[in-house]
Amino acid sequence: MVGVQSIQVPEKSKVDFGAIITGLDVENLSDEDFELLRDTLYKKSVVVIKSKPDISAKAQYELTRRFDPACESYGHGKTLDAKRSILHPDLKTVPHQPQVQVIGNGFVPSYEGLENITLRHPHHKTFHKTRIPDEDDLAYTRFYRWHIDAALYDLNPPRVTSLLAVSVPKGRRQTVRYDDGTGDELDVPLGTTAFVSGYNMYNILSEEDKEFVRTSKIEYAPHPYIWMSPAKSRPDGLGMLSEGLELAESELPPIEPEKIKIFPMTWKNPVTGELALQIHPSAVRRIHLKDGSVIDDLAKVREIVHRLQRPAISPEYVYPHDWVEGDLVLFNNQGVLHSVVGAFAENEVRIFRQCNLAASTPPVGPDA
Ligand SMILES: [Fe+2]
Repeated sequence: MVGVQSIQVPEKSKVDFGAIITGLDVENLSDEDFELLRDTLYKKSVVVIKSKPDISAKAQYELTRRFDPACESYGHGKTLDAKRSILHPDLKTVPHQPQVQVIGNGFVPSYEGLENITLRHPHHKTFHKTRIPDEDDLAYTRFYRWHIDAALYDLNPPRVTSLLAVSVPKGRRQTVRYDDGTGDELDVPLGTTAFVSGYNMYNILSEEDKEFVRTSKIEYAPHPYIWMSPAKSRPDGLGMLSEGLELAESELPPIEPEKIKIFPMTWKNPVTGELALQIHPSAVRRIHLKDGSVIDDLAKVREIVHRLQRPAISPEYVYPHDWVEGDLVLFNNQGVLHSVVGAFAENEVRIFRQCNLAASTPPVGPDA
């Protein structure tokens, strides 16, 4: 018997998304159950399927692909092979199911055909300009990087990402510090994945800003994860500081102009028709305005995007998922932003599996 309920949030929370589904057999999903899942995903943005930690990588891939049957390649294609990419150290590919990646923390003797691997939960000290001091590092943490799962060059952003919790160290909580002068903080479970709604991000804008984001487009940097690799993030994880550290075009792999991505700032939900403000803040390069002019000043582009996005990552709008082994979380990658959070000790072993697939079509803008 399949059950759907809204996620529970604390009283002061304004989170209006997220659902829990019980009783789904993800290894043998009927068309009817899939339709319920798809409908829930597009109405609630994040769906927690109470499943089992030992579901197969193949079942995870096939379920993820069912949202876009025409797609095949992993969301980042083969770009993860690029050693200079900031994504490279964090993902290990399942040999027998290359669209599925193993992520986590600590030493794992054997898993899914991978032997003696050391997983590394990304720590903000490797990506942010400033860091929480060592003595506070177990109690306090930061949002590592708010993002959409997307290559943003050549390939289209995946529609859906699935995350399976195989092994979860439990017991601690941490406090996220925004460290951006606001004093904002958020209590979270250890190793949470934090989500915010792109629909809310759009809805809480002024009417003037809504018009701006409906009529403007974002151009992404080519090979963005290599391009940004020497640059550093703001302390709230919402985009990069502008210190001129990005790699020059001559230092990047060859750029094919037709593979550069220019997307609308708002993407339409295929079920509800709602608009989400969906911008990957660290990879932005230019803004194309409705009159055809272009904002090319990188610092200015980043300031505009941060001003538009920051209200929606305030503590009351963030859903920090409290992972339980066997949770299979599917999220609308074209309707939410998410972030890795937290710092693990070396002996806290965590194993997750992630799957997303480059979409067969670009995201749908506001005018379609
Ligand atoms: Fe992600």
